[in-house]
Amino acid sequence: MAAIVQAPPADSAPKDRLGRPLRDLRLSVIEACNFRCPYCMPADRIADDHGMDSGSRLTFDAIERLVRGFARLGVRKLRLTGGEPLLRKRLPELVARLAAIPGIEDLALTTNGSLLAAHAQALRDAGLGRLTVSLDALDPARFRALSGGRGDVADVLAGLDAAQRAGFGPIKLNCVVQRGVNDDQVLPLAAFARERGHVVRYIEYMDVGTCNGWDRARVVPSAELRDRLHARWPLRALAPDYRGEVAARHAFADGGGEVGFVSSVSAPFCGDCHRARVSADGRLYTCLFAGEGHDLRAALAEGGDALDARIAAAWRGRADRYSELRGEAAGSARKRVEMYLVGG
Ligand code: GTP
Ligand code: 5AD
Ligand code: SF4
Ligand code: SF4
Repeated sequence: MAAIVQAPPADSAPKDRLGRPLRDLRLSVIEACNFRCPYCMPADRIADDHGMDSGSRLTFDAIERLVRGFARLGVRKLRLTGGEPLLRKRLPELVARLAAIPGIEDLALTTNGSLLAAHAQALRDAGLGRLTVSLDALDPARFRALSGGRGDVADVLAGLDAAQRAGFGPIKLNCVVQRGVNDDQVLPLAAFARERGHVVRYIEYMDVGTCNGWDRARVVPSAELRDRLHARWPLRALAPDYRGEVAARHAFADGGGEVGFVSSVSAPFCGDCHRARVSADGRLYTCLFAGEGHDLRAALAEGGDALDARIAAAWRGRADRYSELRGEAAGSARKRVEMYLVGG
């Protein structure tokens, strides 16, 4: 059994070239998804059976070793992602193993919600702390189109109900807003979330990956959304929950809960970015927009010190700040990892 891990002494917690420590890990457990959202896995570009072959996926044993290594180096927040993580078989078993790792104080999962009704209770029982559900539209036809013709919003709503019954709360709802596509869903989603006690996070549409045909004209700046919401339900800015929080939080002045805005395009937050991402096949990406990953599999097989050294070396070499460079020559037209490999 591994030794109990205390917070690492300052000098053994790696800092990157811009002085940023490693605090969060976003770990993809599967590269497959049952949706084909046009901004992530467009159906005409990604085969139906993409990622269903489990050959190169890390085993649960390897994932546990990996997370123990990241925790030794200072990671305290772990978020499981996909593709769609609920497609990974026996996920609650993995959650239970990860929840028990010393140092991991916050264990969360991002899902499209379509399979949540069947799994919410088991995930809660296994020790999952928090849930984020992607929800770009409440209107059934729009939702279907935005899932690439695969999803039924009723399943997601049933999943949210089941998750609340299982004790999750408040659940975050991720809404990627695109002008002329779903910006009319912004107020209905807020009304829904206020009624049910969820927290919506409106996300600026980003140029992630290589296949979403990003068009800046479709980005709705958070300031504009905030004004629209504020005109309907006055908002009051809140202080961040922790340094480097991705979303800018606002409370409804009438006590109806809160919303957040993720403004990676209009107000990049790279300066406080403490996030590492690992794909389901064990590659470490030091930025959501990184071109190449650092393959951790050999170090994982070796175990212990080799793994820590490999992760620390990759982190120390990190200078990524893509969102701050977006539009400059260094920031555009490069190779980029696909969103469905690193889960956002
Ligand atoms: P909390 O732990 O609840 O604060 O969650 P989070 O802020 O990590 O939120 P979540 O994982 O739901 O992220 C919301 C969205 O913000 C993601 O799906 C991405 O689209 C975007 N995002 C998250 N982290 C980053 C990041 O490091 N860089 C950029 N550019 N976007 C990010
Ligand atoms: N821009 C912003 N957010 C995106 N997501 C996927 N693709 C994009 C994009 N191009 C979000 C999803 C989900 C999370 C995993 O990432 O909506 O909530
Ligand atoms: Fe699947 Fe999420 Fe990508 Fe949509 S955004 S295709 S639900 S991984
Ligand atoms: Fe972090 Fe890269 Fe996102 Fe900047 S663009 S916040 S460095 S993941």
